[in-house]
Amino acid sequence: MSSIDHLDAAKASHSTPPVQLRNVVRQFGQQRVIDGLDLDIAPGEFVALLGASGSGKTTLLRSLAGLDSIDSGQLRVPKARAAVFQEPRLMPWKRAWKNVILGLHTPDAKARAVQALTEVGLAHRLEAYPATLSGGEAQRVALARGLVREPKLLLLDEPFAALDALTRIRMHRLIIELWRKHTPAVLLVTHDVDEAILLADRVIVLANGKIAEQLTIDLPRARDTGQEGFQAIRARLLSLLGVEVEAVAVTPRQATNNSIRRFAHG
Ligand SMILES: Nc1ncnc2c1ncn2[C@@H]1O[C@H](COP(=O)(O)OP(=O)(O)OP(=O)(O)O)[C@@H](O)[C@H]1O
Ligand SMILES: [Mg+2]
Repeated sequence: MSSIDHLDAAKASHSTPPVQLRNVVRQFGQQRVIDGLDLDIAPGEFVALLGASGSGKTTLLRSLAGLDSIDSGQLRVPKARAAVFQEPRLMPWKRAWKNVILGLHTPDAKARAVQALTEVGLAHRLEAYPATLSGGEAQRVALARGLVREPKLLLLDEPFAALDALTRIRMHRLIIELWRKHTPAVLLVTHDVDEAILLADRVIVLANGKIAEQLTIDLPRARDTGQEGFQAIRARLLSLLGVEVEAVAVTPRQATNNSIRRFAHG
């Protein structure tokens, strides 16, 4: 038996978890990708999801977004939710502001698009077509499209993975700023352990279709990779992911990235 509930904002108390999964199973043929998964996400909580390639992160996110079903279990999500993927998925024939309000039919739609694009720093690109946007700009339009619906749950599937290091750092700042302002619960899928620690309140590791481990990240914000306690959490997460920490020598490139991150988040 499977059921998907939408949390009714009018009935939900402030403390009702916007996301509640119980014994969720999703399988493709004989392959149980999600295998009895339990997960709660609190209102306004920022959760990062790590896991090996093929461990089922996107499958889980698609189910939460309503883009895929589940085979059994219970899945409760808020109606107001939005997803942003690795690629921005914009309609090439529509201008930026029209992409933002795709499917939104309210009289103030344009004003809302302008506001959302302004929030992501694109007030000057309202009329631009996607082909004329940089990768980072296109991803910010995708983020504005998510925000314009005032989601109670924001689902992010490796949204920064295709961006260069500096743009990624700017996006980290932006996402934290928007999260603080709009206070949605966030589930961020990432392969980047540093990104997970820099952004999330809690990091969960998916393995064998279940949550294998989770760590609460109580480092003060704004965070940087050089702050006390960061490297210990990093080493623990890498070991949970099966990466021997001794093997991860700090290369000059990593050292540079670390100092860029300190600059960006400090
Ligand atoms: N529609 C589908 N039909 C059949 N198999 C699928 C389908 N969608 C996903 N899978 C399989 O489910 C498994 C999990 O895929 P998923 O995309 O969720 O992994 P992931 O953790 O997001 O991986 P990555 O980190 O590489 O993005 C994979 O083995 C994949 O081949
Ligand atoms: Mg994936």
